[in-house]
Amino acid sequence: MSTDPLTPYGNRPMVTPIVNAVNYEYGSFDVLRQITDGQIDGYTYHRDDNPTVREVERQLAPMEGAEDAVVCTTGMAACTMVFLTYLSAGDHLILFHDIYGANYKVSLILERMGVQIAWLDADESGGIAAHLRPNTKMIFCETPSNPLCKVVDVAALRAAANTVSAMLVVDNTFATPYHQRPLTLGAHLVVHSATKALGGHNDLMAGVIAGSKEDYNKLWFTRQAIGTTLDAYSASLLERGLKTFDLRAEKMSANAQAMAEFLARHPKIPRICYPGLDSDPGHKIARKQMTGGFGGVLAFDVGQDQEHAKTFINGLNRIIHAVSLGATESLICIPFLTTMLYLPPERRTSFGVKTNTVRLSAGIDKTELLIEDLEQALKKV
Ligand SMILES: Cc1ncc(COP(=O)(O)O)c(C=O)c1O
Repeated sequence: MSTDPLTPYGNRPMVTPIVNAVNYEYGSFDVLRQITDGQIDGYTYHRDDNPTVREVERQLAPMEGAEDAVVCTTGMAACTMVFLTYLSAGDHLILFHDIYGANYKVSLILERMGVQIAWLDADESGGIAAHLRPNTKMIFCETPSNPLCKVVDVAALRAAANTVSAMLVVDNTFATPYHQRPLTLGAHLVVHSATKALGGHNDLMAGVIAGSKEDYNKLWFTRQAIGTTLDAYSASLLERGLKTFDLRAEKMSANAQAMAEFLARHPKIPRICYPGLDSDPGHKIARKQMTGGFGGVLAFDVGQDQEHAKTFINGLNRIIHAVSLGATESLICIPFLTTMLYLPPERRTSFGVKTNTVRLSAGIDKTELLIEDLEQALKKV
């Protein structure tokens, strides 16, 4: 019998085995030394590494055009690991308002630890030079952003970052590697909530950080230290999600585009945000840096106030009222009441989100069924 935990019966299984072991018997002291010296990809203890997790990392890295990738417990663990790995007290970090809400909470912790933070609106990204300081160590953005799908020019941000030797980190959760590869546009690192489109089925939480081999080593050190290693079962679910990722991403963005075009013409929708629309302020840059579509998420205002948005959501039959995104099901929520609850009330609306803004994540449903659902629910508003 093979001693490779991934090929326990000699022949390689079609599905990577779920190795649930916390610890491993050492073949010899020599093997132990080779593992600890990093000469072989051996396994000793789950917090260090796991063969099921490692296999998924190997599959994810090329999807982002990265040398390697670190998988961890959640998207927020991925963001936090990036901050902890590269920032120290006295460093300056530029964050965009238009990033996932829980990053605000992390920013409070970082400030307590002495990191100086500047917040920018994605609309101001062209003027980032004015915010750079000699101690700016990192620029962290999302494009398209959560929830208003604002687009920032990754290559332009990298050029700005270079002037102070700062790192550029892009959360690529909304775009997904199907449509956008930030590393090829100039980002140093890409992070993902793999809970979303990479996993794709609302049944696992995971995070990914993709970059160079050197970054892998640094981030691995952090993961091993703080214990954000993903469990093998979730890694196996993530591997399963990756098998259909391209098909799902293509369908999600086609559905999002069709819904955005329908909603853009609807009299009860005063504002729609989707970079796939010609009229969207981010369309030109999105066309430059995205391919094969513009992602599966859109945001729009319903009627005049939050009651209208609630009536609309309550009236939907197919599209499900729930947070999260990138899943097989189509999901809708009011960010002001859900994902942005983490923010102080004035901050929730200070960069364009309104109390009647809804975020819609297209699933892989038949397009005409989604349009029918939107149409009938809007009649009730
Ligand atoms: C863009 C983005 N980044 C990060 C996260 C955090 O991911 P997780 O919920 O897996 O921690 C989310 C969650 O919604 C997100 O939308």
